[in-house]
Formats: sequence, structure tokens, C-alpha cells
Amino acid sequence: MYLLIDEKGRQYLIRGDDDFHTNYGVISSSELLKKRPGSIIETQTGRKFFVLEPSMLDFIKKSKRGPQAITLKDCSLIASYSGIHPGSRVVDAGTGSGILAMFLASITCPEKLTTYEIREDFAEIAERNFEKGGIKNIKLKLKNIYEGIDERDLDVITLDLPEPWRVVEHAKRSLKPGGYLVSYSPSIEQSKRFYDRLDGFMSETVECIIRNWDMRVVRPHSRMIAHTAFITFARWLGSSVPR
Ligand SMILES: C[S@@+](CC[C@H](N)C(=O)[O-])C[C@H]1O[C@@H](n2cnc3c(N)ncnc32)[C@H](O)[C@@H]1O
Repeated sequence: MYLLIDEKGRQYLIRGDDDFHTNYGVISSSELLKKRPGSIIETQTGRKFFVLEPSMLDFIKKSKRGPQAITLKDCSLIASYSGIHPGSRVVDAGTGSGILAMFLASITCPEKLTTYEIREDFAEIAERNFEKGGIKNIKLKLKNIYEGIDERDLDVITLDLPEPWRVVEHAKRSLKPGGYLVSYSPSIEQSKRFYDRLDGFMSETVECIIRNWDMRVVRPHSRMIAHTAFITFARWLGSSVPR
């Protein structure tokens, strides 16, 4: 795979096994094969493209989207606040397009991450994304996580689901003491309902807001993504006590 970046910064992820047609002319596949990362290739009309080797983040950004996918800012907050590291044992649900699963699996590697999805059509989109990205350490289960979690001794469970509170009791059986149950919910009502079930957990709820700056004029961009979701990090203490 190749990542091509044009003079305006637009990015294209391509296999390189066929000629690539752009608005500025054609990039020949045989010419591309000779290029090393960091070199420049020209179309037959002389427009330049930088040639790079794609990273995992490039695959994730260009992945096919089915249901509403999580943003990278939220993925990174989830990983850092729950302490995910190489070897962490993680279960994720629902898979959706597999964006969060891919992001986290690239950190837990070589440990396999398991992700639960209830819908076959979304599972197919996610599996195709995993295949395109060459990601081998994800196991997708076509299963309703409200009915239970098969895995035990987990470090982290991540939820991006309409009714996350229905997973709390299962999570208590599956998490290691000290492990995290993380729920990503667009609405504060969902987050509150989840929070109210967290007997035996220590929790905090946050939002991640990023403001980009336009450095040519040295001021923030006038447009920004104001809200994506509330993220609750709940740490399992190992036993429940009446609240
Ligand atoms: C918003 S999407 C998740 C997006 C995902 N986090 C991503 O990064 O691409 C929610 C997904 O949860 C799935 N889902 C809903 N209820 C579920 C359940 N009980 N068990 C497993 N998956 C479920 C939906 O089918 C949908 O694909």
C-alpha cells in the first residue's frame, strides 16, 4: 500500500497494483513500484505527489464507515485514561466500523482484542477494514454483549452502545480487579443511567474537546467539532458495596 499526498495536502491510500487516476492526470503503477517512501512521483502532466508508507492511523482514517464511528481524539483518550498498553486484554462492543477496535488493537498487539457486534452487515464492513489494514490481532464475535461476556481476566472493556448499563453486571465478572469499564455515549442521559449502575466502581466522566489553530493567521479555526460524546471511565474495585 502507498499513501500519496498531493500539493494541496490531500491524501490517497492506494494499493498501487493499477494506474491511479487523479484530477491532475495519471500516476503509473509501474513508476510507483520503483519509488521509495519519501520520494516524489509526478503525473504525466507534471503534478507532484509525495510517496509515503501508510501508518495504522492512515488506514483507520480511510476506513469504510458503517454506523457513526468514533473520532481519533476520543480513541486516544480512551487508550490513555484506561492505561492500555502492549499485551493488555481488551474487549470492545459494538464493533461498528471497527475504528476503535483497530486503534486499540494496534496498541495491545500482539495480544488479540475481541470485539462484539450484533449486526452482520456492520460486522462485514469491520472485517473488510481489518483485512485492508492488515490487522490480524482482532477477533470479531457476532454476539449480543447484553447477554454476557465470555472473556475473563480483562484489563479493559470499551462500550459504544445504546444501552451500556446493561453490560455493567457482566463486566464485574470479566474484569480484573482494577480493570476499566469505559463507556462512550453521545447523550448525558445515557451516561447518567450508566453511572447510576456503577456499584463497586470508581468513575469519572469527561468530554474531549480539541481546538485547532490556523497558524497562518495565529488564531483558532472558527469551526470546530464541539461535541462527540461523554466518556465514562469506571474502575472495577473487585467487590460491590451497597451505595
Ligand atoms: C456507534 S456504533 C460503534 C462504532 C465503533 N465504536 C467504531 O469505532 O466504529 C454502535 C455499534 O454497536 C452495535 N450494537 C448495538 N447493540 C449491540 C449489542 N447489544 N451487542 C453488540 N453490538 C451492539 C451496533 O450494531 C453498532 O454497530
